[in-house]
Amino acid sequence: MVGKILGTGSYVPAQIWYNDKLAEMVETDDAWIRERTGIKARHIASGEETTAYLAAGAARAALENAGLGAEEIELIIVATVSPGTLVPCTACEVQRMIGASQAVCFDLNAACTGFLFALNTAQAYLSQGIYRRALVVGAECLSHLTDWNDRGTCILFGDGAGAAVLEAQSGGSYAQVAHSLGEKGGVLTCLSANRQGGQEDVFLHMDGGEVFKFAVSKVPEVIRELLDREGISENEIDLFVLHQANARIVGAVAKRFGGDSGKFPINISEYGNTSSASIPILLDELNRAGKLKRGMKLVLAGFGGGLSYGASVIVW
Ligand code: UT7
Repeated sequence: MVGKILGTGSYVPAQIWYNDKLAEMVETDDAWIRERTGIKARHIASGEETTAYLAAGAARAALENAGLGAEEIELIIVATVSPGTLVPCTACEVQRMIGASQAVCFDLNAACTGFLFALNTAQAYLSQGIYRRALVVGAECLSHLTDWNDRGTCILFGDGAGAAVLEAQSGGSYAQVAHSLGEKGGVLTCLSANRQGGQEDVFLHMDGGEVFKFAVSKVPEVIRELLDREGISENEIDLFVLHQANARIVGAVAKRFGGDSGKFPINISEYGNTSSASIPILLDELNRAGKLKRGMKLVLAGFGGGLSYGASVIVW
C-alpha cells in the first residue's frame, strides 16, 4: 500500500511585500534581491492569519481538490517551524478549524525539509494500513521570526501554506532518502519562543553562504542516492520539485541533472522562501495548472535547518 496524493491545496496571505518595501527597511535594492535570489515579492500574514489559519486554508483547498470531506481524514501532520502556539499544536488547531473530528493530529519540525519528512511519516502510517487517509500540511508565518533589520535574512522569507491529501491504495510506489547533520546545525538557527537560557532573541539567523554551499552539494547527492537505489534513470523523472530557497540553488541543481530547466519549476519570485510550505505550494500550482499527469514521476527534494535534507520519488 502507498499513499496516493488525491488532491493539493495552498493558501497565502493577501498582503504582498515587494522588494522595494524591504529597500525602505534595510540597505538593499530590488535588483540585488532579484539577481541573488530570484525573489520579487513575498506574502506577509496580518491580524488573524496565524500559522494554523493559513494551514486550514490550504487544507480546505486540498480536501476540495481531492473530493473528500474533513471527517474522512484520519491523520493530520503539520510541518512548521513557526507555530502560533506550541500547545495546542498547529495540527490540532487545523482539526478544529476544518472539522476533521476523526483525525489524529501532530506537528513535525524539520525546518525547510519539514513537508518532505511529514510526507514520509504519513506514508509510513498509510503503507502499514494504520490509517487510510491523511492530510499533510506545510505552513509558516516566518515573518514572525524575521529580524527586519537583518538584510541577510529578511529579504528571503515569506508566509504561506500548502497541503496534500493522501489515500492508501494498493500498488503504486513511494521511495525516499533522508539525512540530518546535527553537527552543522549552527549555520541556521532560531531560538524557541520560550527564550532558552534567558535570551530574548527569537529571530532566524543564518550563515547564508554556508547554507548555500550545503544545498548545492547535498541536494544533487541525495537525489542521486535515491535514483541509484531505486534503479531509476534521471531521464525518467518528469519534474524535480525542489524546496524554493533561492532560484540560484534550483539552477545549480538543475545543471547537475542535464540542465533542462523546464524540469525544475520555480515559483520563488512570488513567495520568497516559505520553508516547509514551499514544496506543497509549488506542487499545488503545478497541479492546478494541469502540469501533473497521472503516471508522471516526480522527485521532491528539501533541505534546510537542522541541517536536514532529503528526496522522495512519487508517481503522480
Ligand atoms: O531554506 C533553506 C535555508 N536558506 C537557504 O538556502 C539560503 C541559502 N543562502 C542564500 O540564498 C544566499 O547565501 C543569500 C541570498 C542569503 C545571500 O546571497 P550571497 O550571494 O551568498 O551573498 P553574500 O552573503 O555572499 O554577500 C555578497 C555581497 C556582500 O557584500 P560584499 O562583502 O561583497 O561587499 C554582502 O554584504 O552582498 C552583500 N549583501 C547584500 N547587498 C544588498 C548581503 N545581503 C544583501 C542584501 N542587499 N540584502
